[in-house]
Amino acid sequence: MLTLGIETSCDETSAAVVEGERRILSNIVASQFDLHARYGGVVPELACRRHVEVISQTVESALDEAGVALDDVGLISVVKGPGLIGALLVGVSFAKALARSRGVPIIGVNHVEAHVYSAVMSSDTIEFPAIGLVVSGGHTMLFLMEDFGVYRWLGGTVDDAVGEAGDKVATLLGLPYLGGPLVEKLAGGGNARAIDFPRAMMRRRSYDFSYAGLKTAVLYHVKGYAGSPRDPSLIDDAERADIAAGYQVAAFEPLVRKTMWAAEEFAAQSAVVCGGVSRNETLRAMFADAGADCGVPVYFPAKELCTDNAAMVAGLGAWRAVRFPDESSGDFDAFPNFGAFDALEDYRDPRARRRGGRRRKE
Ligand code: KG4
Ligand code: ZN
Repeated sequence: MLTLGIETSCDETSAAVVEGERRILSNIVASQFDLHARYGGVVPELACRRHVEVISQTVESALDEAGVALDDVGLISVVKGPGLIGALLVGVSFAKALARSRGVPIIGVNHVEAHVYSAVMSSDTIEFPAIGLVVSGGHTMLFLMEDFGVYRWLGGTVDDAVGEAGDKVATLLGLPYLGGPLVEKLAGGGNARAIDFPRAMMRRRSYDFSYAGLKTAVLYHVKGYAGSPRDPSLIDDAERADIAAGYQVAAFEPLVRKTMWAAEEFAAQSAVVCGGVSRNETLRAMFADAGADCGVPVYFPAKELCTDNAAMVAGLGAWRAVRFPDESSGDFDAFPNFGAFDALEDYRDPRARRRGGRRRKE
């Protein structure tokens, strides 16, 4: 069966055709990079308008590149959330209209789960239980996967996401939008030990993360303090590279250590690291080393599947439709907040459990 995937949760309009649950026939990503670059971040209203303008063409390109017609598609899978509500509504409305007009079943899937599925699509040797880590511009979260599709929440960021922190640090270093990959490049020429930035929330019992303090530490390093301000334009290239390298290890160490602690605590057979930041080679190398030391194989998505794309959405939709046929009834709405990760349960955080927790159902 062919599945048409549609993704519009943030600033990429993407459409893809996947055969079965894994074979990618096309994966078109229309980036809005040019639109948001001069604002230094995604402007939601502009993102929605651009999605409206290009979604039709993006879907046509995905079908053309796959060499298939709309009539060949047996399922439409669209991201229903989390994400920017206006942006999500464009994809969901378009997908529903297409599905109704063609009489094709439609399923709404979770963007975060699609990131996890991108690793499953890229490898058939992942063993469960596994520890999952999603590191992207919008999310930093750790969970136990008893199997794919069965999750237990372990922890997440209490403030910024790690990808977002990297983008902010890039701005402080005078790098253009979108900064995460540029920080990585700059760090390549630096010494990660030259500047000792703080690693946050390293208590063994916590699986939460924090990036606001690290971001502020970089800010003070670059701009100085009230009593002794510094002109950032006078920082030489060697120091900029050291800042970038020092930032990266301080940002990544908690991710690696907590994933390995969780793997030990829950006797996980593997770890799965996904989302935009999982493209980063330093992060991959740190995980490979720690995984080898702890005897935990670490899996990543193929590089082109790390950042937002519709192939992971199509693949996940196909996977879920087979196992949970009720989900492809088309009865779903777009939702902006994290929370419809249906099988996810609060596990560690007693405060969240008492409140009824993050387990909010749709
Ligand atoms: O998964 P994604 O495309 O979108 C969200 O769901 O948020 O992730 C985008 C994030 C951005 O913050 C971007 O700077 C970061 O992933 N990113 C990277 C790298 N490539 C993308 N961060 C560090 N190193 C990279 N190579
Ligand atoms: Zn994403």
